[in-house]
Amino acid sequence: MNSKAAITGVYGYVPDYILTNAELEKMVDTSDEWITSRTGIKERHILKGEGLGTSHMAAKAVEGLLAKTGTKPADIELLICATTTPDYVFPSTANLICDMTGIRAVGSFDIQAACSGFLYALTIGSQFIETGKYKKVIVVGADKMSAIVDYTDRTTCVLFGDGAGAVLLEPTPEDNGIIDSIIRSDGSGQNHLVQKAGGSRYPPTHETIDKRWHYVYQDGPSVFKFAVKNMADVSAEIMERNHLKGSDVAWLVPHQANKRIIEATANRMGLGMDRVMLNIHKYGNTTAATIPLCLFDYESQLNKGDNLILAAFGGGFTWGAVYLKWAI
Ligand code: ACO
Repeated sequence: MNSKAAITGVYGYVPDYILTNAELEKMVDTSDEWITSRTGIKERHILKGEGLGTSHMAAKAVEGLLAKTGTKPADIELLICATTTPDYVFPSTANLICDMTGIRAVGSFDIQAACSGFLYALTIGSQFIETGKYKKVIVVGADKMSAIVDYTDRTTCVLFGDGAGAVLLEPTPEDNGIIDSIIRSDGSGQNHLVQKAGGSRYPPTHETIDKRWHYVYQDGPSVFKFAVKNMADVSAEIMERNHLKGSDVAWLVPHQANKRIIEATANRMGLGMDRVMLNIHKYGNTTAATIPLCLFDYESQLNKGDNLILAAFGGGFTWGAVYLKWAI
């Protein structure tokens, strides 16, 4: 029988600069009260510095992960990076991270599934372990959302932050690890959450810049409705097909986009908020980094064998859930 893939290490990184709600109040017509009550966000970390992109934060997370797990770069066989804000259109951010961390001549590639990116990448990475092809795979979720957020648009600029998280996947002989996963998409939602220009359909021009198409556009209420339904549905589905009741789940690890969406998902799963990982107040929505940053922040509260449900949704639309038993 093939081994399961287990997360055997986790590390997170956020940049030093903190953008508070009070500072945003000076930039756009908003208030700490509005942001806190509508989203749960108090502050977010922003990457400052000329020439620093998503790979800078991701490499910090990977370096921390290698040091913490006592893993040599030469032992890594594959690195996957989930990101919506790659340093370049090409080469991939995964290529850059490998170069920065001394991981040489292995497969590395990016996954783009907006805020569901980490769950997509985790699902893909675990297949390489389960088939026996590789024994050490790194999966990174990293985004520098500040690079594509319009800080004159109050409807989006209060939501996002920058950060990175990385996990090490290894085979486990035990009954722990990644047990099930669901990944879904529906491209008919494309217009509700989109960075319209900068790709091949609308390459950057003076006109696309003037129209501000190089920034995130979001129809918040449509995304909200979609997110509440689909994140709750997919979490319930993965519980049902694995015969899990609310009382069996130690932790929900939800994508951190809006505290109200998280509460609705927990409610549907029959979980009290004391069993929901929540750090949105500190980081905002860091897109592909939210779930590994949650695991990193809550690691000391996790016990071997705990049932975790990871759930996410994002632009596309994309959504998904992973059921795993904590293995460390
Ligand atoms: N400060 C003050 N007022 C604001 C702000 C702000 N920052 N932003 C919007 N408003 C105003 C609006 O203009 C509107 O005013 P009006 O009634 O006079 O027109 C009012 O507040 C209500 O706006 P709504 O957009 O209806 O507010 P809502 O309760 O829906 O909250 C929010 C907005 C927080 C964006 C919510 O819709 C949401 O969380 N949506 C989902 C976001 C998300 O999860 N995105 C997906 C992940 S991102 C990814 O995949 C990359």
